[in-house]
Amino acid sequence: MKHFLDLSRFTKEGVKTLLEVAGEMVPHARAGMDLGRGRILATLFYEPSTRTRLSFEAAMQRLGGSTLGFADARATSVAKGESLADTIRTVDKYSDVIAIRHPAEGAALACSFYSQVPIINAGDGGHLHPSQTFLDLLTIKTELGHLDNLTVVLAGDLRYGRTASSLAFALAPFKPHLVCVAPEGLEFPPHVVRRLRHELGTTVEETADLVAAARGADVLYVTRIQQERFFSTDDYLKVKGSYVVDGHVVKGMPDHALVLHPLPRVDEIAVEVDDDRRARYFQQMFYGVPARMALIALLLKLIPQAVPSREVAGEELNLTCPNPRCVTASEKYLRKLYTPVLEKETSLFAELGERKRYRCLYCDYEVAV
Ligand code: NCD
Repeated sequence: MKHFLDLSRFTKEGVKTLLEVAGEMVPHARAGMDLGRGRILATLFYEPSTRTRLSFEAAMQRLGGSTLGFADARATSVAKGESLADTIRTVDKYSDVIAIRHPAEGAALACSFYSQVPIINAGDGGHLHPSQTFLDLLTIKTELGHLDNLTVVLAGDLRYGRTASSLAFALAPFKPHLVCVAPEGLEFPPHVVRRLRHELGTTVEETADLVAAARGADVLYVTRIQQERFFSTDDYLKVKGSYVVDGHVVKGMPDHALVLHPLPRVDEIAVEVDDDRRARYFQQMFYGVPARMALIALLLKLIPQAVPSREVAGEELNLTCPNPRCVTASEKYLRKLYTPVLEKETSLFAELGERKRYRCLYCDYEVAV
């Protein structure tokens, strides 16, 4: 395990190993340990954060190490025009592992090409948030006892939110039944649904009926509308407040079910739900510490444990990624890397009048040729 960029790059066995190590960290998440003494974690946060940054710092300190970094890139040389690559070449001289959150999609992968130390993706735009997903899996595994064949309702902004798609991809090997409830226009992008259904064989159902979906849920995973990623305020106001998980929604849920949310919430979970035994979003935050302790300890080889993963190497192609938020659009020096889309139903491409599709290695958007 060299970097931690995308949880879906690990095999099912790999994810299980990660969860075992995180489970062993639970008692140490309060008591602390000495394993990481003398090691430094750098946290580079180019976007706002409360939980992710603080729990990464808490995790490193509970491991016995220390932290440095910034929570506002405007106070760094980025404001003078420094590239991401040069910032990483700097910070890797001062730290042993780097957690980075950046608005450009694929930023963490780009950093991994320039870093001498492990990179952790702490959120790259609307793309992925693998350490959140890892703590989500740890929460579900600990609270429900297993991850197999669960009915997981993903409610909220599935288009711009990175946590819901990250969770969907990471759960895929565990054969979930995914039920998506999104306001109009905020559904999963077509390439996400296609990949889940046709490449990973996941059942994905879409519905507008939140109450009925919640009734059959093992997990109701709620997300906030990502206002900061909208191109216009008018578009945001059209969907603001369009769904609320309140006492009525939760009342019909099975007894064993969990209501989770990566937080922060705005208005999508009513405070009356907080006292329901199924509401576990505050407990979920705690798991961020042992989950991130495990990731840091494994990346720093403080624990000698192999974690099986799939290497995905890109092919350099002279294609422009269609995603305006892709890191290749802002960091122009990056090599344009793609992987062929392996669609189980290749006839789908023919129907679309395409010969082949490639997936951008950085942001996962597809280009047809
Ligand atoms: C999430 C994020 O940043 O994507 N927050 C988090 O890390 N806990 C969810 C969000 O901001 O809506």
